[in-house]
Order: sequence, then structure tokens, then C-alpha cells
Amino acid sequence: MPDVIAYGGDWNPEQWPEETWEQDVALMREAGVNRVSVGIFSWSLLEPAEGVFDFGWFDRVMDLLATNGIKANLATPTAAPPPWFGDAYPEALPVDADGRRLTHGSRQGFCPSSPIYREKALRIAEQLATRYRDHEALALWHVHNEYGCHNARCFCDTSAAAFRAWLRSHYASLDALNDAWGTAFWSQRYSDWAQILPPRATPTFPNPGQQLDFRRFSSDALIELYTAERDLLRKIAPGVPATTNLMAGAHWDMDCWAFAAEMDVVSTDHYLIGARAEPHIDLAFAADYARSLNGGRPWLLMEHSTSAVNWQPRNRAKAPGELRRNSLTHLARGADGIMYFQWRASRAGAEKWHSAMLPHAGTNTKIWREVTALGAELARLADVAGSTVSADVAILIDHSSVWAQDHPAQPSVDMDPVEEAKRWHAALWRAGVTCDLAHPEGDLTGYRLVLVPALYLVSDAGAANLARFVERGGVALVGPYSGIVDEYDRVRLGGYPGAWRDLLGVSVEEFFPLDGPIALASGASGTAWSEVAHAAGAKVLDTYATGEPAWTRNEWGDGFAHYLTTRLDDDGLAEVIAAVVAEAGVEPVAAAPAGVEVVRRSHADGRSYLFAVNHTGEDAVVIPPGGDPVTVAAGDVHVIYA
Ligand code: GAL
Repeated sequence: MPDVIAYGGDWNPEQWPEETWEQDVALMREAGVNRVSVGIFSWSLLEPAEGVFDFGWFDRVMDLLATNGIKANLATPTAAPPPWFGDAYPEALPVDADGRRLTHGSRQGFCPSSPIYREKALRIAEQLATRYRDHEALALWHVHNEYGCHNARCFCDTSAAAFRAWLRSHYASLDALNDAWGTAFWSQRYSDWAQILPPRATPTFPNPGQQLDFRRFSSDALIELYTAERDLLRKIAPGVPATTNLMAGAHWDMDCWAFAAEMDVVSTDHYLIGARAEPHIDLAFAADYARSLNGGRPWLLMEHSTSAVNWQPRNRAKAPGELRRNSLTHLARGADGIMYFQWRASRAGAEKWHSAMLPHAGTNTKIWREVTALGAELARLADVAGSTVSADVAILIDHSSVWAQDHPAQPSVDMDPVEEAKRWHAALWRAGVTCDLAHPEGDLTGYRLVLVPALYLVSDAGAANLARFVERGGVALVGPYSGIVDEYDRVRLGGYPGAWRDLLGVSVEEFFPLDGPIALASGASGTAWSEVAHAAGAKVLDTYATGEPAWTRNEWGDGFAHYLTTRLDDDGLAEVIAAVVAEAGVEPVAAAPAGVEVVRRSHADGRSYLFAVNHTGEDAVVIPPGGDPVTVAAGDVHVIYA
């Protein structure tokens, strides 16, 4: 990672006449830009016809960057095959679940399992890498762009064959597959591998095991495309790190844990969702996720927006100061690079209404002033680069569980595992407690408290991991409808939640989804969900009017395992989370009023930076532990050095 904070955005000079480029680079310098991502969507210009390459213009782009001391995240342009590709190889275009073959004309027009796509993608990547491997401007390979953003699952015959090959490598026999998928139900038993299809349109609910394995296969297919490019780049340019921009926290089609494990440095994109009441808390979730995916090391924010995006129903422009708060929050949560989509707002094309660092209106604008001010500020904060964020709390999250719960035949449509994880994260955010995200089978030894908001599916190893964590003195809080099925989406029998019945000291005999709120003895309120549960060793801390348990606590080894049988409303959840935070001995980062976000980054040598982000319209006083009170003006961000 750089010893400065990387600052910049996607630069797409090919959208502009060459006369503009010098001006672009001069303005980049004015804005403090030291890094741009180039070449992301350049395939049709770099290879205008199959096998015909034109790198002349791109040489000039790279040279211009080098001359001006700006480094490049050099992209392989494989996210957008040119029209000639779809024209020559229509069989390589993606097919949806209804059997519709899509056409070129936007981007990501390829089937992830297509051998011809892979061949052509590797060829352009090889040309690019061979040409620029020693270029002074090259800092990082930006492989592809947002794998699976639009074509995460392809249902064509090529994908079907690849799916079958994947299944054969995962199951010892067809019998094992039939058993895992429960194909005795609805007469789905396969007598030949060749009968197995992707879960294409079918009269009613598809087989859950088939659906889940297809999601796993599809994620693996994309990761394999990444590793194929990465390995080629490594061979040609050993020592140049590679990444691809994930959409951590926003898109759940790729297994981010598995993907991140293949990267030299994790990078991700994040966009505010205008419809959310407090989108900056969602931002914090995404940033915490990215940091956790990179094992706590500094990561790279590859894209966010200076103001509005163009793909939501109403694309709200950012308020004055919001850009700075957003960017510095990513920095506070461990990013060593702050980048945007894109450098110069497009004049034409599908994203011409998307904000950029340099807006249509030019430099006499709020955006430009904020962009240049932030560039100067990040230069002053260079010392932060390389420091890390530490957390005593982890939230467990797993893509397989999200995918399994995505099957349509569930007890209630109101149990959204991603939103629930975000809601629990938001409760910690409001309590000023920093947390990581962790894979259920990941290393939990450094944490005091582990939250399991919604983990419907957990493997045996994941189940044992949590029990071990508690046994060794940790505190866990498990949410309802967690630990229900095994890794094949088969119910764990004998009373829910089968994975953690002993750990929690509770046995559930039936789910009882709700239409409205339900009052608990404590005065708190449950929503959407309740369970007919029996304490089997656990102490009951709150109940329904029937006297049945709503919140329980079980002693297990040296620790405690709490369980909620309902989805508490925000206030009730905040109280329970405050209780387990206290029980685990976890402290907030600093004393701060509501709406003020406080996060600390530290170097191993003790230098540390307390970021205080005031999201409110009032001045606020933050009291760092053992430090003097600091006033953070309304909407301002303060970095307190220690
Ligand atoms: C990202 C993508 C960019 C641009 C941006 C718009 O998903 O990587 O190329 O489309 O969204 O918000």
C-alpha cells in the first residue's frame, strides 16, 4: 500500500478529444490527485477488431500520467467486451433464468463460464500487461470491474455443463448429491449427472439445494475468471499487486470472503442509497466489511461518488460537506485510498447523469471546491496511511447463508438477513462501538463479543467455532432463525436452532411469524417473528405475555451465550446490545453525542488518530478517553492526534 493516501478516480480519457487530456492532468494536480484507474472500459478501443490492437493512444495516457507523477490502477478492460465479441460469439453472451439470451450494447455481456470469453479476456490482458509491465505509472492491476455486477448468474448450456462439472468435483457421487439436495421430495431424484440443470424457470419453487449450489458455483466461476487474469498478470509482471473492486455490503452474488482471499489488496466500491434514512451508517458497514475482508489491513476504496448517482429512482445530490464526511469516514475505517467514479463527468453514455470529481459545470462549483479541499486534506493526513482499526466485536456474515435464505419458500418474507445484520451493526454504530465482520469459520480469538444477527445456515465447523469462542470466555448474542440448517440447507433436527441448541440452552419447537408488533414483559417490542421456545438450561431474561422466552442467557464454559427468539425493534435491540457490550467489557471509542461517529486508527508505534464525524446539524462535544473535550462543529470532521 502507498505511504500516501491514494486519491483520485476512474479516468476515462477515451471519452474525450485528446486536447482535453493535458487539461485533465493539470486539474488532477490542482486537486491533489495522485492515483487514477485507467482502461476499465477501453476494450473496444484497445482491440477495435478481433486480434487488431491499438495501444498508441493508451501509451500517451500512461506517459502523461508518469510525467505528472500520477500513478495508475491499470485495468484489464475485460468487464466490457466490444460489440465484435458478441457478434462473432453469440453463444458466449449471457442467458437469464427464462432462457433469454442477452445482447451486447451495455456492459458485462458475457457468460462467466464461456471458454471463448476467457480466451479473449486473457489475450487482451496479456497484451496490456506485456506492454505496460515496466511502465513508471503502473502501481496496481485493477482486474476487470465489479465482477458479477450484471451477469453474476448465467443459465446457458455452457454454464449448465460447467455447473455439472463443479457438482462432480464437490460431491463424491450422484447419491451424495441426491441426499444433499433432498431430491426424494417432489420426485426430483437424478439418475444421471446429465439431467442436472441450472435452476432455470420452472413451474414453482426450485430445489433449494440446487439453487444454493448454483449460487456457489456462479460465485466460484467469477472468482476463477479473476484468478486466471491475476495469475497471468503475476507471471508477466511479478511484484505488481492485483485487486478487483468488490461491491462489499451492496451486492451479495459473489462470496466476498472467498474473493478477498485471492487479492493482494482488497478494494471495494460504495454508493449511498438515497432511500435509506441514515445512508452514512450503511457506508460504515461497507467500510467495516472491506477492512475485515482484508484481514484488518488497510484497503482501497476504489469508487464512491462526489454527489448524485444515476441509477436510483431519485438521485439526490450530496449536501455541502457530505462528500468530505463520506470520504473521511472510509479513511477512518481503514481505507488507504479514496477514489471516485469518475474523474470527469461524461457528456454522453448511460452514466452522463452520474456525478464526478470534475462536474459538467466545471471548476466554479461546490463539487470541485470540495474535491480540491479534500485532496489537500488527505495530503496533510498522509501519516494515517498504514495505520489500522481494531475492534473487540465481530458480526458474523456468510454469503452461503444469505443465498440459502433467499430461497422463496421461507416462513416469513420479513426476515431479511442482510438488513438484519446492518441493523445490528447500526446499533453498535449508535453505541460508538467499532466492529469487524467475520466469517462464521473465521478466527474469533481476538474478539470479546460476537453477534450473530441472522445466520440461517451454518456449517458444523462454523457452529463449533462459535461454541469454542464462548467456551473460552467470549460473549455471543444470537438472533432468531439462526443455526437452523446445515451447509446443504437441510434442517438440523431435534428442536431449533439445531446448530446451537446446547450452546444457547434453548430449544425451539415452532416458529411463529408475526403480522405486527408483540409486547414483551420488559416493555420492549418484538416485530415480524417469534418462536415457541423452551429454556433448557438458559436463564430467561425477557418473555412474551405467554411467559415463553424472548431473550435468554446461557453460561457456557467461561462465557455466555444470549439468544433472542424475536426480532426486537430498534430500541429493544439497542438495549440488549448495550447489555452484551457491557457484559463483554467492550468500551465505546469515545464519549460522543448521538449522530457523531467516532473511530480510531492506530500505528503499531502508538501514533493514533481519532476521527470524529459529526453527522448532525449541531456542534457536538467529543471526549476522547483520558483526553480533553473537543468541539466538532455541525457537519464537520475532526481528526484528533494522539
Ligand atoms: C459502479 C461501476 C462504475 C459505475 C458506477 C456508477 O458499479 O463500477 O463503472 O457504473 O457504478 O455508480
